[in-house]
Amino acid sequence: MKPTLINLPKIVDPRGNLSFFENSHQVPFQIERTYWIYDVPGGEKRGSHAFKEQQEFIIALSGSFDVILHDGIEEQCFTLNRSYYGLYVPKMCWRRLDNFSTNSLALIVSDRMYSENDYIRDFEEFKKFKNEE
Ligand code: TYD
Repeated sequence: MKPTLINLPKIVDPRGNLSFFENSHQVPFQIERTYWIYDVPGGEKRGSHAFKEQQEFIIALSGSFDVILHDGIEEQCFTLNRSYYGLYVPKMCWRRLDNFSTNSLALIVSDRMYSENDYIRDFEEFKKFKNEE
């Protein structure tokens, strides 16, 4: 499956809207881990790595930021700025989070526990891995 924006249910209510996702339903994998990125100082970037196996689903719960993906050949930029959709990021996709707005909150769910061994942190090494696929 390619990188895809996935719309989430939105229960519109005058008291405040509500959205959700459930294991394997809206998100195309079994969720194993949730983490979030917050208090990002202006001009900072996060990420700049790929995962050998891990898949992710990224949502801007608050504010906005860009997710820039590179498949080894070309770059694609997704701006996330609503909490009722998110971006599915498959494994072996170089990804960077950039242009965080003030007080933005990035929620990330993944199908794996944290493992440093799953990271590819060198772009040249990533491209080499891609060519071997
Ligand atoms: P990392 O994924 O490298 O963040 P970024 O690519 O945005 O810099 O994570 C930063 C550090 O946080 C990493 O060295 C280890 C730790 N970490 C965990 O312990 N568990 C986790 O689930 C994550 C995502 C990171």
